[in-house]
Amino acid sequence: ALISLRQLLDHAAEHNYGLPAFNVNNMEQVQAIMQAAAAVDSPVILQGSAGARSYAGEPFLRHLISAAIEMYPHIPVCMHQDHGAAPAICFRSIQSGFSSVMMDGSLLADGKTPSSYEYNVNTTKQVVDLAHACGVSVEGELGCLGSLETGKAGEEDGHGAEGEMDHSMLLTDPDEAADFVSKTQVDALAIAIGTSHGAYKFSSKPSGKVLRIDRVKEIHQRIPNVHLVMHGSSSVPEDWLAIINQYGGDMGVTYGVPVEEIVEGIKNGVRKVNIDTDLRMASTGAIRKHLAEDRKNFDPRKFYKEATKAMQAICAARYEAFGSTGMA
Ligand code: G3H
Ligand code: 13P
Ligand code: NA
Ligand code: ZN
Repeated sequence: ALISLRQLLDHAAEHNYGLPAFNVNNMEQVQAIMQAAAAVDSPVILQGSAGARSYAGEPFLRHLISAAIEMYPHIPVCMHQDHGAAPAICFRSIQSGFSSVMMDGSLLADGKTPSSYEYNVNTTKQVVDLAHACGVSVEGELGCLGSLETGKAGEEDGHGAEGEMDHSMLLTDPDEAADFVSKTQVDALAIAIGTSHGAYKFSSKPSGKVLRIDRVKEIHQRIPNVHLVMHGSSSVPEDWLAIINQYGGDMGVTYGVPVEEIVEGIKNGVRKVNIDTDLRMASTGAIRKHLAEDRKNFDPRKFYKEATKAMQAICAARYEAFGSTGMA
């Protein structure tokens, strides 16, 4: 059944678990996520970005998610629009039938330039007013994602601010978060605590803590009724990176967010964990391997099936680690 983000995350908070929110662009991703969820009885968040909409087209994206809901009637599914760059984008998604939207007012409508606090409050509030009248949840974002080491957004293939940022933007301020939530009434808040989008998050293997969990804790204490969201939370699986490069790929040395640190975040109020890169890598690795090993094959179903299996294993591992199994 289709469910709002608020309902889903209220349940997660009540039972102390977190939910992965996977980006979807095609049927194989949707099936992998649903098959893994059905196997362990986990609720699901499927999110579509602007990039997904331009890749698949809005009707295909919407119908893919509807097909998932129809095939798995016992699994609660939230249909979430990821990173809306302007209110109009969010309004269009609400009209399409999304049960949740993200208004990312931390950046201007170009999706690159850090915005003023007032701009963020105003655009987010506009979306909340309309969304709540329609029973749709809203995620906002305060602070700019980016590496605490380099001050860079991490770009490559994700969204993020351009160029180097003032260090204070890279960490969400707890008092500002409280003010933002009281002014906008968002249901969920994405916070900046050291994650960045895309595959190139950390250039050396994280030893110890890479995220500011202390900051998560402080924010959660100030706004206990708002569900915290971590973007840029792919773990960049080393095994898939090696397979991609072994079978003709050329990805640089890179590391992601250790799953244990995400779990630490969940213990401190994080309820939604955005993951895109991990499924992209698993699917690319599985397809490269299949095509290299079965050079006679020209039936795409065979390599798509490998991709689905690879993505399914990542999804299952995240449901397990984040504690959402048995919660559907
Ligand atoms: O936050 C970004 C997600 O990874 C979606 O990426 O805009 O390339 O679909 P995309
Ligand atoms: P990753 O690039 O770490 O997968 O993050 C995805 C994300 O935050 C989508 O909004
Ligand atoms: Na989002
Ligand atoms: Zn994101």
